[in-house]
Amino acid sequence: MSDNGTHESAVPAALRGCWYPAMRSAGLRGRGPATVELLGEMLVVGRDGQRRAFALRDFCPHRGMPLSAGHFDGEAVECSYHGWRFDCRSGQCRDIPSLVPGESKVKVERIHAAAFPADEADGYMWVYFADPERSGDPVPPVPKLWRGEGRARTVHLWCDLACDVDQGIIGLMDPAHGPFVHQSWWWRKRSSIQLKEKVFEPIPAGFRIRPHAPSANSAPYKLLKVYGQPVTTIEFVLPNMRFERIEAGKYWFSSRATVTPITSDRSRIDFVASWNIFSWLPFVPWIFRKFAATFLRQDQQTMEKQAVGLARSRRQMLIDDADRPARWYFQLKEAYLEAQRTGQPMKHPIAEPVTLRWRS
Ligand code: FES
Ligand SMILES: [Fe+2]
Repeated sequence: MSDNGTHESAVPAALRGCWYPAMRSAGLRGRGPATVELLGEMLVVGRDGQRRAFALRDFCPHRGMPLSAGHFDGEAVECSYHGWRFDCRSGQCRDIPSLVPGESKVKVERIHAAAFPADEADGYMWVYFADPERSGDPVPPVPKLWRGEGRARTVHLWCDLACDVDQGIIGLMDPAHGPFVHQSWWWRKRSSIQLKEKVFEPIPAGFRIRPHAPSANSAPYKLLKVYGQPVTTIEFVLPNMRFERIEAGKYWFSSRATVTPITSDRSRIDFVASWNIFSWLPFVPWIFRKFAATFLRQDQQTMEKQAVGLARSRRQMLIDDADRPARWYFQLKEAYLEAQRTGQPMKHPIAEPVTLRWRS
């Protein structure tokens, strides 16, 4: 990146050593696994007989048959071509029916289908993509959405993005597009643009906006004020997570948006929100979903149009404070990759809290 902010965005690397949400849990019906594309890999994702998550590459190591074409009995996946059976969690081969017992020298237990660590949390099936150079490293716990006390409602939303993961993420963290992309009577108008000033501070593998009163120029936040002065905390954490938490007295709202790479030029936003405000009111999740879906659709359409432009040239400018979070994202990613290359601890690109000023 040059000093005037011109930035030639490369085809993004998907970070390894990270968990990614593969699909919503609700997408798994009955006992059957599902096929999912993630980071350019086709996977078979499901639950075993004890409801533990598993993820296998959708590829039989014998002759390449997709394992999803086979049969699953709750423990092992049996390939539909020659009946090799693989443990669904470890990928270890359990049986090769064509071998002659007592005569064959083949060490069946040494053969593996590629298996990924998998877990289930917050209504998603998660898959861990290890760094191939450090496959022996311990797998960190799966990320979990923060939830406060009390009865809560939860909503899941998602949409496909016709853009690479980097454009999706900087779109997520972009503070300046709101009044243009998300114009509406109930959220904000173009004319409601005002000066914003927020303190950003480094956190492990990311940054956060220091807890602050939410912006006064949007209606839903005004509503919250009845319960006390709301405080918002927004965080970005590598590889792809934006958390937003609002607390007003004993009431809380917590959400997470992730942008997950599907291929090098397609990604998906997954959005989960949980709250205990108005949890006794029947239509709130429905209304919330409507509003959030409008937001996502606006972002989705914006990304689609941007992809048309970026197909012409990948030159972009990241300028001043409004684009600083985008720059930080690229710097964080670089630092993360560097740490993986060298085995040294990650050098955080943000040394100390910084005040950013922009209009939105
Ligand atoms: S291709 Fe899978 S068992 Fe032969
Ligand atoms: Fe947006």
